[in-house]
Amino acid sequence: MATIVGAVTTSHVPAIGRAISKNLQADPYWKPFFDGWPPVHRWLDSVKPDVAVVFYNDHGLNFFLDKMPTFAVGAAPEYRNADEGWGIPQVPAFQGEQDLAWHLIDSLVKDEFDVTTCQEMVVDHAFTLPMALMYPSQAWPVKVVPVCINTVQFPLPSAKRCYALGESVGRAVRAWKSDARVVVLGTGGLSHQLDGERAGFINKDFDLAFMESLLHDPRWATQFDSAQLVEKAGTQGVELLMWLAARAALGERATAVHQNYHIPISNTASGLMVMAPTA
Ligand code: DHB
Ligand code: FE
Repeated sequence: MATIVGAVTTSHVPAIGRAISKNLQADPYWKPFFDGWPPVHRWLDSVKPDVAVVFYNDHGLNFFLDKMPTFAVGAAPEYRNADEGWGIPQVPAFQGEQDLAWHLIDSLVKDEFDVTTCQEMVVDHAFTLPMALMYPSQAWPVKVVPVCINTVQFPLPSAKRCYALGESVGRAVRAWKSDARVVVLGTGGLSHQLDGERAGFINKDFDLAFMESLLHDPRWATQFDSAQLVEKAGTQGVELLMWLAARAALGERATAVHQNYHIPISNTASGLMVMAPTA
């Protein structure tokens, strides 16, 4: 059976793509952010995943407001990046892990998650930048399964539902007949709001409480409905739902391997955690 080696949860601000392409890692603005990553590289070197299941939210590249699935799973042979209008360089294509993708789809539907299955899918910055941060060579050593959660157009799935989705994905991965080593990603957040009267809103106290909760009380954020999450984390801060799903996939108990938190990157409070499941 497959093994989940752990989860990496991180922000996915487009400006990171520009910083990578301009080699700004040592620049004073960027250094506190990029300094968070070498421990992740060392951890990846030690656990050597062959597959990444990536919880992320598309921002209008693959799904637009006319058709917006609540939950979508990629089952494509490969995933390409495309121009989203930010002017950031595109990255090499990702190979899909189709056997796991169909196994996840079967298990999720059996668990009564009515997912949209995508046999063609382009992936945006929310998918590509965390991968580029994890694997700076961009010679991707993992095959991927994208799991997309709508945080763009209301109504959004509840935190409770996203936690349950993550649990279901975790059970399915552990039941997959393969000796693969699987890393789970959750990309988005933490607190930020890009538009409206509260544009620029950041809530450090909430972010730190949320990060802590993932280790000691992982269902803590499921007490909040979507409006409460927007109030506490900002309109785009609801992307923290990806972190919740990724954490839930690890099972009941997890420990922190590494964490970093830095304000701001662009308009966003950038958070990073590596968590490993504990038996
Ligand atoms: C920013 C943050 C995001 O999560 C995103 O998807 C786009 C932009 C930002 O802070 O600039
Ligand atoms: Fe985003």
